[in-house]
Amino acid sequence: MSIRIKLLLSYTGMLVISLLMFAVTAGLFTIATTGDIGGFRDFYKVHYQLNPLTEQEESIFLELKYLAKNEPDSLQDKQLLRDYDFKLRTVRAGLYVRRESNPIFESFTFNQPDLEKALPPYDLDNNQIRNTFNIGERFYAYAKFDFKFTDGAKGSVFVIRERSPFAELSRKLLPVLSFLLIGVLVVANMLLYRWITRSVVKPLDLLRDSAERIKEGNLQFKLELHSKDEIGQLNEAFENMRERLQQSVDLRLQDEESRKELISNISHDLRTPITSIKGYIEGIRDGVADTPEKMDKYVGIIYAKAVDLDKLVDELFLYSKLDLKQVKFSMEPVNIVRFLDDCIDELRYTLEDKGIVIDWDGQRTGNAVEVIADLEKLKRTVLNIIGNSLKYMDKAHKRLSVSLQADSEWVTVEVRDNGMGIPAEAVPHIFERFYRAEPSRNLSTGGSGLGLAIARQIIEGHGGSIWVNSELGVGTSVFFTLKRSTNSGRGESE
Ligand SMILES: Nc1ncnc2c1ncn2[C@@H]1O[C@H](COP(=O)(O)OP(=O)(O)OP(=O)(O)O)[C@@H](O)[C@H]1O
Ligand SMILES: [Mg+2]
Repeated sequence: MSIRIKLLLSYTGMLVISLLMFAVTAGLFTIATTGDIGGFRDFYKVHYQLNPLTEQEESIFLELKYLAKNEPDSLQDKQLLRDYDFKLRTVRAGLYVRRESNPIFESFTFNQPDLEKALPPYDLDNNQIRNTFNIGERFYAYAKFDFKFTDGAKGSVFVIRERSPFAELSRKLLPVLSFLLIGVLVVANMLLYRWITRSVVKPLDLLRDSAERIKEGNLQFKLELHSKDEIGQLNEAFENMRERLQQSVDLRLQDEESRKELISNISHDLRTPITSIKGYIEGIRDGVADTPEKMDKYVGIIYAKAVDLDKLVDELFLYSKLDLKQVKFSMEPVNIVRFLDDCIDELRYTLEDKGIVIDWDGQRTGNAVEVIADLEKLKRTVLNIIGNSLKYMDKAHKRLSVSLQADSEWVTVEVRDNGMGIPAEAVPHIFERFYRAEPSRNLSTGGSGLGLAIARQIIEGHGGSIWVNSELGVGTSVFFTLKRSTNSGRGESE
């Protein structure tokens, strides 16, 4: 059963219960006041008609009724009537006696010229002996008894009491008020039902539609519903979930895209050396290398390409392992100054060979700046960075400078060259895998674009950061930071 139907039933139920309670209360009240199970319809009627007079008035009326039945002529005795009227006046009522259509006695309390006309006609059956009437704005209740005088003339005796106009008014208005009450109940119920369906059912419908959309894979929408109640909170949670889903889908698509790109890059980079190896082997097979020198040259080239291939596969392997966080870092305290010394020493011949002047201020920095690092991987990083400086050097006067700065927490290493520099638009990308600034320009250098990507993975694996400053045609500075070992003394090296 839908919430809407449940709500409708519960509201109707409440309405029916309220009306029943109202009817039962009215019924009980009627029984309590009249001792008669006349039902709600008779409630006000019975109450007023049976009790138009008070108890004392009623007992005087009964005496008069007795007289009218047994000694009707005594009701022509003015003195007797006056006595009775006096008794009635003490309880705020009055007496009226009629013979045919002429009043024999009229209590002066009424002082009402139209009384005669307002009184009911003669009825010997005495069908209705109690009732009310009004003259203008004044209301009266009466008890009446019709009889015959001994001479056969029609006689009527009335005990009349003026009532509060409010009591009469409410008696008249009671049916209207009851209908009004029921109307108000029904309308209030309808309004409440509408309000609840609007604030509960509609938002739920909206949520259901949204869930339906998500099921169909559509996440490109926004749930616009801002209420502060539980439904609003549910909605907010739902919207958050949708956003998260959207993000994860976007991320997955991005991943997918970059995986495709990676595969295409790998195939491309592997194909180049393989194609040349194939070409030279075909040359040898076809007898193009017909002299020992040529043969030597061809084999030399094939070997060099195979080495390139090996290096590329090696780099790819390392990169993917770093990317998947499958490489363990064996951290140890490393004296960064001595470490850089070693690296530069290792490269000294290559550097001299290329005519590069190296400026390394290690000795000035001091001897004992310790960092926490994986020695082997850190070396790979430094060689990749310096390797780039050597590769992208285009000046006649070649310079390379390595420097080091340390504060209490971090050590920053800078490798600066006066090479060709990197175009500004390429700078944000050079740490991406396979990215090469202007590949056409550095075709001859033959890099795969993995060097700096590996360097970044390694440095970030150490908890440090790596960045570059470069000016096209002037030179490039690559910086990286490493955390200082807590054992190394402060200020010692600064
Ligand atoms: N010192 C530098 N001077 C000028 N350009 C540089 C320098 N270092 C890096 N680059 C640019 O950044 C790109 C990315 O460098 P990265 O080391 O990642 O790749 P690569 O050197 O091309 O190939 P690999 O290092 O894998 O052999 C290079 O292709 C080059 O265009
Ligand atoms: Mg490189």
